[in-house]
Amino acid sequence: MDTQAHWEHIYETKSPEETSWYQPHLEISIDWISAAVKGLSSSIIDVGGGESTLADDLLAAGYRNLTVLDVAGAAIKKFQERLGPAAQSVHWLKGEVTTVALPAHAYDLWHDRAVFHFLTEPQRRVAYLRQLVSALKPGGQVVMATFGPQGPEKCSGLNTKRYDAESLHYELGPEFHLVRSSVAMHQTPMGTMQQFLYCQFSLNPVQEGSTP
Ligand SMILES: C[S@@+](CC[C@H](N)C(=O)[O-])C[C@H]1O[C@@H](n2cnc3c(N)ncnc32)[C@H](O)[C@@H]1O
Repeated sequence: MDTQAHWEHIYETKSPEETSWYQPHLEISIDWISAAVKGLSSSIIDVGGGESTLADDLLAAGYRNLTVLDVAGAAIKKFQERLGPAAQSVHWLKGEVTTVALPAHAYDLWHDRAVFHFLTEPQRRVAYLRQLVSALKPGGQVVMATFGPQGPEKCSGLNTKRYDAESLHYELGPEFHLVRSSVAMHQTPMGTMQQFLYCQFSLNPVQEGSTP
């Protein structure tokens, strides 16, 4: 089953509370995003947003330039139904993060909770990085949550790659500056614990005189 078919099936057959990654509110993400961006008009993309409540909470906080990207149309549809009329205030993108057309240098902040760690093939991580660098504004911020060093080796039946702050920074490359990192335990709705790594990076601004 390909990536899209896998995730469409998940969202067609499970409620949010039946998924291991469900959290009523993504508190760490919200705190870090609020601290990382300059104001409520900052452009923020949530990559692999699924049915998370991040966009709901950011809209409630007054953010007005939000994009949610997901490979699963079923997730986007359920998300839009939940938001109701407020869904019109969000930009929706359905596609695979490694290949979908993204506007160039458009986002102040890129958020990814539990997507990058599914990219176990190096060439998909390279493609993801290409998208990230091209879509982020110079000096833009990244808030990323992956499984930590003691996190699960599989999620939703898919293999995952686990990271510490150093190895995640290595994947992103020297163009990124590690701003902060933290390991956090996530209690799944099934009662099990999963170790997550949260990292914030900033994309180095283009140096004057350097070639693009
Ligand atoms: C584990 S869920 C996390 C959902 C959400 N970020 C959260 O924290 O609740 C992973 C999400 O990423 C989406 N996804 C997985 N691989 C993707 C890819 N290559 N491109 C875009 N979305 C992807 C899935 O459809 C799913 O919604």
